[in-house]
Amino acid sequence: MKFFLDSADVSEIRRAMDAGLIDGITTNPSLLAKVAGTDHDPRDVLAEICRIVPGPISAEVVATTRDEMLREGRDLAKLADNIVVKVPLTEAGLMACRQFRSEDIRVNVTLCFSAAQALLAAKAGASYISPFVGRLDDIAQDGMELIEQIVQIYGNYDFPTEVLVASVRHPVHVVQAALIGADVATVPAKVLHQLMQHPLTDKGLAAFLADWEKLPEAKRVI
Ligand code: E4P
Repeated sequence: MKFFLDSADVSEIRRAMDAGLIDGITTNPSLLAKVAGTDHDPRDVLAEICRIVPGPISAEVVATTRDEMLREGRDLAKLADNIVVKVPLTEAGLMACRQFRSEDIRVNVTLCFSAAQALLAAKAGASYISPFVGRLDDIAQDGMELIEQIVQIYGNYDFPTEVLVASVRHPVHVVQAALIGADVATVPAKVLHQLMQHPLTDKGLAAFLADWEKLPEAKRVI
């Protein structure tokens, strides 16, 4: 399973990239607005992210009509070869997706909350479908059940669309996504670091180092 970082924060992205932990990035207008503020152009932020990470970088349109989505998406795609244009799962978004595919522009269809929506995105030629598991859990629906359904449906018909598990809130979401066989999980930096942590690792390491300290100093060389 691939890991994407769900962030537009360049320092978070550099850290995850330096650690060799991520294969790509997803951004959204909320994440970009948080880092761009008044000083930075969101396009400059996206271009910098594309220089740091060679994998797919999702950049979302903010238009709501097909034609405007096409204009914005084509501009975003010019920023770098690794841009994946993100469109919302609306009728206009699906129409734009189909057109982008015919222009060889990869598309991530986002804000997916049902298997029926995911089926339509695959038929429209999406490279990625982004079901939001955390936001479903928030309204007392089982987000991971949706991932199971989409993985099964895509498998039934050999759709090449990759299932990109989004709105990930904790490490259990990531493990469940991997058990189901999702292609990608996009995780916030906090969850990425939580994945590494285990109290028994910390306790075990502290014990090993304390035992090592008991050796005479001259012998503490490996
Ligand atoms: C995915 O592409 C979205 O940016 C993201 O996962 C949304 O997560 P949230 O529900 O935590 O905002």
